[in-house]
Amino acid sequence: METMNNIQSIPVTQNDFLPLQGTDYVEFYVGNAKQAAHFYKTAFGFQSLAYAGPETGMKDKVSYVIRQHKLTFVLTTPLKMDNEIADHIYRHGDGVKVLALQVDDARSAFEETTKRGGKVYMEPQSLKDADGEVVLSGIHTYGDTVHIFVERKNYKGIFMPGFRAWKSKYNPESTGLLYVDHCVGNVGWNQMNPRVKFYEEVMGFRNILSFDDKDISTEYSALMSKVMSNGNGYVKFPINEPAEGKKKSQVEEFLDFYNGEGVQHVAIATHDIVKTVTELQSRGIEFLNIPASYYVDVLDRVGKIDEDLAPLQELGILIDRDNEGYLLQIFSKPLEDRPTLFFEIIQRKGAKSFGKGNFKALFEALEREQDARGNL
Ligand code: FE2
Repeated sequence: METMNNIQSIPVTQNDFLPLQGTDYVEFYVGNAKQAAHFYKTAFGFQSLAYAGPETGMKDKVSYVIRQHKLTFVLTTPLKMDNEIADHIYRHGDGVKVLALQVDDARSAFEETTKRGGKVYMEPQSLKDADGEVVLSGIHTYGDTVHIFVERKNYKGIFMPGFRAWKSKYNPESTGLLYVDHCVGNVGWNQMNPRVKFYEEVMGFRNILSFDDKDISTEYSALMSKVMSNGNGYVKFPINEPAEGKKKSQVEEFLDFYNGEGVQHVAIATHDIVKTVTELQSRGIEFLNIPASYYVDVLDRVGKIDEDLAPLQELGILIDRDNEGYLLQIFSKPLEDRPTLFFEIIQRKGAKSFGKGNFKALFEALEREQDARGNL
């Protein structure tokens, strides 16, 4: 039985034309990268890693790279108007531009995806310095969001050519964030299935879970969602589409304020969600409020868990179970003034799903916020 289970759990990569080693980095286009880097370091416990700007030969923009365990963020701001980055910020506010994926061969990733219909964002380019070579290429996905394929197997430097080490005297303690668990995209009406097809056909992903508007609806609003996963399961992209309800869907509110499709949330893994969320709250990060009623019968639904319920309730952490185990999750309020991007913190204890049992409580909490903004 042991052996059988092991065989079944070996990732299916034999015919994977786009083998991915995971998320390489997430790049945000922001109005003020210097301050954003300080915010993410302070509030989330990232460390300074690398910097690029005029001093390193990049004349028109500045990027700060920060890292915590395997989680790497790049915060980029333009130095002048009339360019892609400035336009992106004007249109969307601060948001995710790049979901970068690590590959063994960025040229092959480009050829395999573009020949299947992927729209070119970046032709393969080789960046070299004394530490070796990084090859990049990229294609468009939903909205103005792109995937960049990063090949860094021949690179020994700190991040990539064009960047220098960023040493800081300010090194706040980690909050226990580990890596990207999944990234969710919000797309427009009738766009979920075309986007699912894109991930299937162009990138070789599989649809591993689907939720219709009956799964994800409250008294007021609804949405549909399909979860796409690459062959080895390292990269998961749920895609949300609004659905008709009595009032405006949260996905519609996002689309209104982001002025189009984009990344709704980045889910970040931790091994100790109580510790991580306690730390994040003490540093000023706010999370959605979950009513006490949620906790009255939650253990009847999910069964026995290792954690005490009291701290979970106090922090507003949600619990769900599937056939393989359970998970603990919590959702931040938006990270900027527009009701667009937020983070999820997730601790998986066997479960590979996304918290379907929490959708109702979660969406009611989101709607209370939406209502307070006058957008429900
Ligand atoms: Fe999520």
